[in-house]
Amino acid sequence: MNADRTHWDATIPAMSRPAATSYSDSALTVPPALVEARGLIKEYPRDAGVTRVVDDVSFAIFTGETLGLVGESGSGKSTVARMLLRLVEPTAGEVLYENRPLPPASSNEMRALRRRMQIVFQDPYAALNPRMTVRKILAEPFAIHSEPPSEGLTMRLRELLHSVGLDESALQRYPHEFSGGQRQRINIARALALRPSFLVLDEPVSALDVSVGAQVINLLRDLQRTLGLTYLFISHSMPLVRYLCDRVAVMQHGRLVEIGDVMQVCEAPHNPYTHQLIAATPEMPHADPPLAAPLQ
Ligand SMILES: Nc1ncnc2c1ncn2[C@@H]1O[C@H](COP(=O)(O)OP(=O)(O)OP(=O)(O)O)[C@@H](O)[C@H]1O
Ligand SMILES: [Mg+2]
Repeated sequence: MNADRTHWDATIPAMSRPAATSYSDSALTVPPALVEARGLIKEYPRDAGVTRVVDDVSFAIFTGETLGLVGESGSGKSTVARMLLRLVEPTAGEVLYENRPLPPASSNEMRALRRRMQIVFQDPYAALNPRMTVRKILAEPFAIHSEPPSEGLTMRLRELLHSVGLDESALQRYPHEFSGGQRQRINIARALALRPSFLVLDEPVSALDVSVGAQVINLLRDLQRTLGLTYLFISHSMPLVRYLCDRVAVMQHGRLVEIGDVMQVCEAPHNPYTHQLIAATPEMPHADPPLAAPLQ
């Protein structure tokens, strides 16, 4: 996908592109934005005043792409991601999903949208309830949304497990019976249960060892291709970002300091901070895809 996107950020400022409904010729070359952040600000109370942890962040995520989000710890990456999903309320600014502002007017519409946007967290241990079987964990999204799958619950749960490389014997087991990589696969299966179109992956492999993480990254790549997913991939690993992402956005102290095609940014960063980030990754300049290992 990289090749198609090389010129997007150079030629089309994310916020000034035409609305999706008015695409004509441009629809042939520019995919629509699935998610847009416009002037997002988040402030938290601190001492007598407030501290601004996200400061006027605007960007678009195009349908079918993987946008990487990098930056030092505390720079505001997770807060931005949570505002996109409306898990955190912005202090100011707006989020658009398929060109419509969030939250929509009706709570029914918001419920429907929630199904389309899911998140996979960093820690596969903390994210799964240890007292629930995998069957219960994977069935929960259907129960919450009161919508049993049309093909029958058991059939859908089997299909979900197969899609993440696990078999149906997992259904009767508990999270502690699985390895870290397998647990993250269960988390991914749960995120996919309601057939979302947009996934936030908030450091999904940073708690895993490198080879297991590599398999999970390859799984995410395969799932994106087969299911047509759009990803926001938050990471501290520039090699991983380079391997998985089409474009990358860089945050520092709550601000977006650079966004562009991943190869361009890695090879010729405009911002001094991006330069530092890349320079701090010794294997970057000549990195081959670090994750060529096939899925288990
Ligand atoms: N609920 C909260 N109340 C107060 N401050 C918060 C809250 N959530 C996050 N912060 C602060 O906002 C800043 C940004 O946090 P955030 O978790 O978005 O950073 P991050 O870039 O995801 O960091 P990391 O790479 O460590 O995950 C941090 O200084 C954090 O302490
Ligand atoms: Mg974070």
